[in-house]
Amino acid sequence: MDSNTLIDLENNFGAHNYHPLPVVLDRGEGVFVWDSEGKKYFDFLSAYSAVNQGHCHPKIIEALVNQASKLTLTSRAFFNSQLGPYEKFICELFNYDKVLPMNTGVEGGETANKLARKWGYLKKNIPENKARIIFAKGNFWGRTLAAISSSDDPLSYEGFGPYMPGYDLIPYNDLDALENELKDSNVAAFMVEPIQGEAGVVVPDEGYLKGVRELCTKYNVLFIADEVQTGIGRTGKLLATDYENAKPDILILGKALSGGVFPVSAVLANNEVMMCIKPGEHGSTFGGNPLACVVAKAALDVIIDEKLSENAFELGNYFRSELNKFIEKSDLVKLVRGKGLLNAIVINDLETSETAWNLCVEMKNNGLLAKPTHGNIIRFAPPLTITKEQLKTCTEIITNTVENYSAS
Ligand SMILES: Cc1ncc(COP(=O)(O)O)c(C=O)c1O
Repeated sequence: MDSNTLIDLENNFGAHNYHPLPVVLDRGEGVFVWDSEGKKYFDFLSAYSAVNQGHCHPKIIEALVNQASKLTLTSRAFFNSQLGPYEKFICELFNYDKVLPMNTGVEGGETANKLARKWGYLKKNIPENKARIIFAKGNFWGRTLAAISSSDDPLSYEGFGPYMPGYDLIPYNDLDALENELKDSNVAAFMVEPIQGEAGVVVPDEGYLKGVRELCTKYNVLFIADEVQTGIGRTGKLLATDYENAKPDILILGKALSGGVFPVSAVLANNEVMMCIKPGEHGSTFGGNPLACVVAKAALDVIIDEKLSENAFELGNYFRSELNKFIEKSDLVKLVRGKGLLNAIVINDLETSETAWNLCVEMKNNGLLAKPTHGNIIRFAPPLTITKEQLKTCTEIITNTVENYSAS
């Protein structure tokens, strides 16, 4: 089927809860994807940073295929032969006592919130139903009712009330505002992204994460880091919180934990927090399934063996310095920001303008796929397997597209 027919099918039979660029992808390998007509593109979104290891990484696919023909799902009604070894591996890698395996990123967030509330009642003696969790404005952690209850984006929450109580918002990157809230002894946790991805790759000031860690310790509040998008090498370290040695009490991972093969998420914490949850109080039919365990182990091995965090660190610096040189001469691009290979450009236009969308359509025509996060922001997040030569080519596609757009 050709692309137009396939787009029509999605429009006619699928809910209209997304607004995709008009390209139909059929195949992927490494940093490349191909459309139904066989045209090749650089993937500069990586499925919202789920495909850090590149599309269809052979080692991850091999692990998937081998396990898929042996055992895929047991539920947690029984033990399975892959879960224990995987749990030991991931706990040792991230230096936590325990892990709670889930599937999607938002389930990881839900799990972290439930853990924090339980800990608040059992360990901090917060009165029944009074536990509060603080979030930063601009946060994004998914689409469940809990997640949208903490959102300040009307597109996320409007028309879906009533909302989850016990959630409050403070400005991002504001330690004074945080300290003010943490003084309330009913606060169980502060949940925050080390870099706000969906908000447009908003990088906080240096020292913010360290400050969050110190304040949470001072007021006996759990620091929950949502590293679903920033984790697993994306920002140039295994975790973005590693930049400031700001170890969270609860760490949420997802997306690239499976190399984009299927949904695998994980919540890590020490016994003091994790042992607050007892059998029957939380879980998921698919969480911790043997297929997910071997895929996640392979996905993490690839990040480490191929030094993808290091590659992201180095190439991210190169990308931003090239774009900064370009921006000096460009009226259309205001700035580039990010860490590692999680970056965005901000367009010199209104947030409501179509410029970022139009630029993404032009980049697509020129062989590079990216997507606006907001009206005037375009995120660039290629697979971390990208080489310097490939990145150079991509930087040229981006800058040439912007130049031609400005001239037209
Ligand atoms: C920081 C962050 N947390 C959580 C999520 C939710 O993950 P999922 O879509 O797998 O539920 C996302 C998704 O974009 C995210 O960026």
